[in-house]
Amino acid sequence: MNQMFSNIFNWVNNRLPIVNTFERHLSKHPVPKKVNFWYLFGALASVVLIIQIVSGIWLIMPYENTEEGAFASVEYIMRDVDYGWVIRYMHTTGASLFFAVVYLHMFRGLLYGSYQKPRELVWIFGCTIYLAMMAEGFLGYVLPYGQMSYWGAQVIISLFGAIPYVGESLELWVRGDYYISGITVSRFFALHVVALPLVLIALVFLHLVALHEVGAGNPEGVDIEEHLDEDGIPLDSVPFFPYKVLNALVGIGVFMTVFAIIMFFFPEGGGYFIEMANFFFCKRQFSRANCVSLLKKAGIPAIKAASKLIKPIWIEAMKAVSRGRCIRPRP
Ligand code: HEM
Repeated sequence: MNQMFSNIFNWVNNRLPIVNTFERHLSKHPVPKKVNFWYLFGALASVVLIIQIVSGIWLIMPYENTEEGAFASVEYIMRDVDYGWVIRYMHTTGASLFFAVVYLHMFRGLLYGSYQKPRELVWIFGCTIYLAMMAEGFLGYVLPYGQMSYWGAQVIISLFGAIPYVGESLELWVRGDYYISGITVSRFFALHVVALPLVLIALVFLHLVALHEVGAGNPEGVDIEEHLDEDGIPLDSVPFFPYKVLNALVGIGVFMTVFAIIMFFFPEGGGYFIEMANFFFCKRQFSRANCVSLLKKAGIPAIKAASKLIKPIWIEAMKAVSRGRCIRPRP
């Protein structure tokens, strides 16, 4: 059996450079000996990208991209689909941590000047990845089609309308309708699950190919290509496997622990991250009239109670201020 697999593998490998590419770009790729904590976030961003793609594929299966079905299908995922809540919270937590990790990755770039020669193109691909990520995040936010999704889409799509001359037509083109509707949800779904992930994966691929062409930087700014051994391997480098892999695994372990804590114990961020705002308005029938009645019922008594409490403190404070005033000496 083993012999058969090895024969098949050799047959493919003789026709497709699998081992060569793997060794050149992964296992035997030379990386600087001395890097620090800040050089971990590229690996973490790659891990989150994989988490988002895998959890996303599972979310697509029960999700419905229609006006009537979108919100209800998310409820269905949370309540009825076996472990649907785990998959969804994995995706929402991943979306937030993706940005956190990429911000730290970019901060490292600014800290150590990673955008400078010869890594300008790596940086440019990185900036494009960041733009694609923002678009991807926004499109995903609209998909549950709750209150925040709807009004968020309203605000962002209206921005297109601010462009002179073409703005209005562009806004209509992006929305696909005269107001946000099932048509908008359906096209955002297509962009979120197919178009932008493809763009992101392609950009990350180019980001890493460009990086491997010039080699990774390091905190001390040493050019590892300056001192080579007789085989042309940089003396100040170690192979990616096992050194960097083991190093990154420790970081990935810590990161995944934080990820799990957020995902299992704090996925909604106390109602501020995802759920509450999407439900809040529909439950309370948010309107100006309700706002006024809320103000009358709770707001005014609260102001009265607060002013009662603050009044004596305010008077004492004023007395203290007036006591402390400068007094001109009498002539
Ligand atoms: C999906 C998002 C991203 C992924 C998966 C990713 C992945 C990586 C990986 C694996 C590395 C090598 C390891 C390391 O140095 O940390 C790297 C290096 C780098 N990345 Fe990213 N990256 C992403 C986004 C970005 C963004 C948004 C920027 C900047 C705008 C950026 C700029 C850089 C630079 C300049 C380097 C080279 C640093 C050096 O060697 O000195 N990356 N990236």
